[in-house]
Amino acid sequence: MSLCPKLMITKLSLRPSLVVLIYRMMKSWVPKSPKDFVPLYQDFENFYNRNLYMRIRDSWNRPICSVPGAKVDMMERVSHDYNWTFTYTGRVIKDIINMGSYNYLGFAQKAGTCQEAAAKVLSQYGAGVCSTRQEMGNLDKHEELEKLVARFLGVESAMAYGMGFATNSMNIPALVGKGCLILSDELNHASLVLGARLSGATIRIFKHNNMQSLEKLLKDAIVHGQPRTRRPWKKILILVEGIYSMEGSIVRLPEVIALKKKYKSYLYLDEAHSIGALGPTGRGVVEYFGLSPEDVDVMMGTFTKSFGAAGGYIGGKKELIDYLRTYSHSAVYATSLSPPVVEQIITSMKCIMGEDGTTVGVNCLLYLRSLNTDLS
Ligand SMILES: Cc1ncc(COP(=O)(O)O)c(C=O)c1O
Repeated sequence: MSLCPKLMITKLSLRPSLVVLIYRMMKSWVPKSPKDFVPLYQDFENFYNRNLYMRIRDSWNRPICSVPGAKVDMMERVSHDYNWTFTYTGRVIKDIINMGSYNYLGFAQKAGTCQEAAAKVLSQYGAGVCSTRQEMGNLDKHEELEKLVARFLGVESAMAYGMGFATNSMNIPALVGKGCLILSDELNHASLVLGARLSGATIRIFKHNNMQSLEKLLKDAIVHGQPRTRRPWKKILILVEGIYSMEGSIVRLPEVIALKKKYKSYLYLDEAHSIGALGPTGRGVVEYFGLSPEDVDVMMGTFTKSFGAAGGYIGGKKELIDYLRTYSHSAVYATSLSPPVVEQIITSMKCIMGEDGTTVGVNCLLYLRSLNTDLS
């Protein structure tokens, strides 16, 4: 009888030491940094890479050697050391069904109107601009694109950037800073998260697409103001996406707009996945809900998904865009968009708008909608 509790105590006291033992074993698997050096990167990342990712590594980042269309060609590779290294056999595996690329409307093609237009511009302007928009990198093509984007979105003005990720991470810090508050959806993309962190503003996270959670944060922000000083926040900026790429959820935009108006805050909408794909004419989540673009203060999106190109944009009031042209790091310090890429965007956007004189764009949208009735 008396042995039982003893045994239990011994068992219980063993548990922590078992955890420590496993931890020590895991630590012993990771390579040590040179003496007196702090580790260059985290132990867990190292452990994850070596023991988990390595086993399935061949399933990721396989080099493709074709356009990212419905089917792709892939370079065959083999590993003789459990995926630590790969060697290419020289064989190309053709026509593999592509379930991974963003090419939503099929505009990333190696033939057709977009490709022909981009090739023509390549021979006229070359591939690289070799300067920033504020110096020698401001082409007539960039201005044509920005006017078209503004018209497409139904806003006063727009600016295009060379990278979608940098559009968020470099423009959010131009809009908010210390003494400002960012309210960010918990599932926002890494570029929004990085932009928010770089800005130096205080960040509070609300539950994904949850309006009660957002309203509570807004109320608290207005009632309590900034920590310690209790001064009102200089600005409150709400960050949301149009469609969340990992979940497929659509932002509850009418409610977000109602809240932002009620609490006099600003709204930054990232339409990376919804622009060109959502709404009867592909104008995105604002059109999908039948709202006015004027109700969104900062309309952001990328050209990498529906337009089969590269880069990002911000659209909104003329004063906002003029301000960003001067103060955004992405406008001042980064090389501007490559001309053939600009032409790919112009051609595909005109196609979606039906301004190319064909019904190709409309048909693409109808086809996308037939695959998912939620998009109309
Ligand atoms: C919501 C969102 N914003 C921004 C980006 C970054 O855009 P890009 O890949 O064009 O740099 C992505 C990329 O997938 C995204 O999903």
